[in-house]
Amino acid sequence: MPLPTPLPSLLHESRLVPVVVAAGAEQGRGVAGALIDGGLPVAELTFRTEGALEALAAAVSAYPDALIGAGTVTTPAQVDAAADVGARFIVSPGLSSTVVQRAIERGLPIAPGVATASEVMAALDQGLTELKLFPTEAIGGLPALAALAAPFPQVRFIPTGGITAASAPAYLAHPSVLAVGGSWMVSPSHIAKHDWDAIASATATAVAATTKELV
Ligand code: 3PG
Repeated sequence: MPLPTPLPSLLHESRLVPVVVAAGAEQGRGVAGALIDGGLPVAELTFRTEGALEALAAAVSAYPDALIGAGTVTTPAQVDAAADVGARFIVSPGLSSTVVQRAIERGLPIAPGVATASEVMAALDQGLTELKLFPTEAIGGLPALAALAAPFPQVRFIPTGGITAASAPAYLAHPSVLAVGGSWMVSPSHIAKHDWDAIASATATAVAATTKELV
């Protein structure tokens, strides 16, 4: 069995994973372009709408140099669909061995979601050490992350779920955090109105806050 592929270095550098709910090619291209304009050439396009695959395919083909991945991936068939249109990484809300194995077979990095020590151990059994923590705020926020990180120093987490511009820097300051994920810079109402300037501006603010934390 091949080993999992590590998450792309751009994700380690950007430290932000914008979680996008888009439907159709125009929205996919528009959001990806706005994120890039805001200084963040990274997007997780989620399988949460009927037009999600179209959005993902359009974003990937319009911005081949950006790091565009698929999120809310819950079945091996969705891994295949994402791989077939050129997604560069996979994110899942939970830990499914069939989803993880398909991603490994397709050579795609995957960050499955975990919320308990048992799930972290199951992920480690599959050779994974880069994990989404989900739903972070609902399971206790930063104290929950710190408690879960303590016994697993080899794991790097991507806390996601309820994180905001205000709370992101504190998560990023934790040594076990690789990046934070969230939808705050890609609001559904801005996407619905195709207000790409508003998304670019929220993204630029998020990037500035993250950079400030790193300095
Ligand atoms: C996800 O699937 O990662 C979350 O829905 C994103 O969480 P948020 O919308 O609370 O940021």
